[in-house]
Amino acid sequence: MSVPTIRGVIRRNLLIVFLIALFAGGGGFYLLLEHAAMDNAGQQAELMLQSAMAVRGYTTKHILPNFQKLNDAVFHEETVPAFAAQTVFRTVSSGDAAYTYREAGLNPTAPSDRAGPFEVDLIRQFRSDSNLTEMRGVIDSGRQRLFYLARPMRLKDERCLICHDTPARAPKAMLAKYGPNNGFGWHMGDIIAVQLLTVPVTQQFRSTLELVSILIGGLALIFAIAYFALTAAMEATVAGPLDKLAHAAEQASRSTSKTPELPASGAREIRTLAEAIQRLRISLAKALAQLGTKP
Ligand code: HEC
Repeated sequence: MSVPTIRGVIRRNLLIVFLIALFAGGGGFYLLLEHAAMDNAGQQAELMLQSAMAVRGYTTKHILPNFQKLNDAVFHEETVPAFAAQTVFRTVSSGDAAYTYREAGLNPTAPSDRAGPFEVDLIRQFRSDSNLTEMRGVIDSGRQRLFYLARPMRLKDERCLICHDTPARAPKAMLAKYGPNNGFGWHMGDIIAVQLLTVPVTQQFRSTLELVSILIGGLALIFAIAYFALTAAMEATVAGPLDKLAHAAEQASRSTSKTPELPASGAREIRTLAEAIQRLRISLAKALAQLGTKP
């Protein structure tokens, strides 16, 4: 293995340090921004889910009892908590289709609420682990990246059974509209559906990538300037003069007749060394002259 030069060692170490700083800085910044974007999407989704719960609660508590008093033969969907919440949120998300709210079940009353493969999977997971109260993450919908927040819907209120117990117990008008086959046979405590909220995060993801590339570009520029400044300074003060010094010392060790060219510039340590070599050479010449040996 050849002995490395001082130039090689310094250049290599500078490059290694810079590359590590670039990757650690870029990667760390990316993770930080990604985390902040997820946090932000999570907060939005939580707020929307709370509003959906509020609409459901309002419907169950204030709308349903009053409509029941009417006792007419028409079924009013307005009295259905799921209908109220999903209808309100369809209006909220009409501007941006990526904001969605769904209450999807395996045995739903309305066919449009039948769970898709992803929702079925969520319901299964909630059913198999009763400690699981929430799931969140990011899904790729082909065109977009969506943040989702999912919570299990457990049947906790006896009032729900008016319409979801047996077809015999359900309002006749509801049966006429939805049929006797779907959305019945639910039991108290069952997880009957999943509440799924999505928030678009494609834009946040793009901005994160943009910011990270700006940071990496900036760091790379600073590093390039630092690299050239440091290597140039090292060349002028250490490596260049040291080369000359090594050459001069080698010449002086071979013959005393020629005056070797010693470096006039360089760091203070190098100049001291050059002067010492000069003195050493003169003393050597004197000593040789005293001995009568022709140099
Ligand atoms: C007045 C009858 C009625 C009551 C009371 C009622 N529901 Fe429903 N529920 C329905 C109907 C009808 C639908 C279908 C609504 C639609 O067209 O979107 C539905 C839909 C749902 C859905 C969406 C999935 C599906 O089956 O389509 C869930 C979840 C749900 N109900 C849960 C509940 C819970 C929990 C309660 C008690 C807080 C409750 N329901 C009370 C009639 C009722």
